[in-house]
Amino acid sequence: MKQIVFATNNAHKLKEVREILEGTGIEVLSLGDINCHDDIPETSDTLQGNALQKACWVKERYGYDCFADDTGLEVDALGGAPGVYSARYAGPGHDSAANVALLLENMSGEDNRKARFRTVIALLRGDLAPVCFNGVVEGEIARELHGENGFGYDPVFRPEGADVTFAEMTDEDKNSISHRGRAVKLLAEYLGQLND
Ligand code: IMP
Repeated sequence: MKQIVFATNNAHKLKEVREILEGTGIEVLSLGDINCHDDIPETSDTLQGNALQKACWVKERYGYDCFADDTGLEVDALGGAPGVYSARYAGPGHDSAANVALLLENMSGEDNRKARFRTVIALLRGDLAPVCFNGVVEGEIARELHGENGFGYDPVFRPEGADVTFAEMTDEDKNSISHRGRAVKLLAEYLGQLND
């Protein structure tokens, strides 16, 4: 069993990633499992920069092999916003409900609803150079909230080819097509190819 820390304080992400990696021989440790209760900074202006920053924080201070993700929602009609600033779209200290409300307000009357979620995962193992994995899912922004599952922008994101939002899907269905699901599968393939 390979043990690896997922450097996130987001319990939803941890649950998703553990579900995706179940049965792969990879055990995902949480920050709590390694007694890390830090407020890990993410101050980069790129997803990859933030993912690397979070993974490096844990590797350097706690010594564990680890990975971190950063995700952004890119909305075409908003010039790609909120993008890397998705977590603080409604301003610092605001929660997901405020971010989603602002997004719907900024999209009111807009017919071009095209959007995508993009995830970058950065992996740090031993003394090796960092390796990054990308996952994207295309979709559109709904006109109002639908569904109770998931987190963040899930109630307003309808993936391409579906007639429901991520928040109306089971975890399994979301993971099978989501940005994070795709990036985590690449991570799992990479880890599965290693012999140690
Ligand atoms: P971060 O990757 O934790 O920095 O997330 C950036 C923002 O995107 C936060 O507001 C999250 O709630 C949101 N977010 C990240 N992943 C997802 C997802 O899978 N669904 C919906 N929102 C997400």
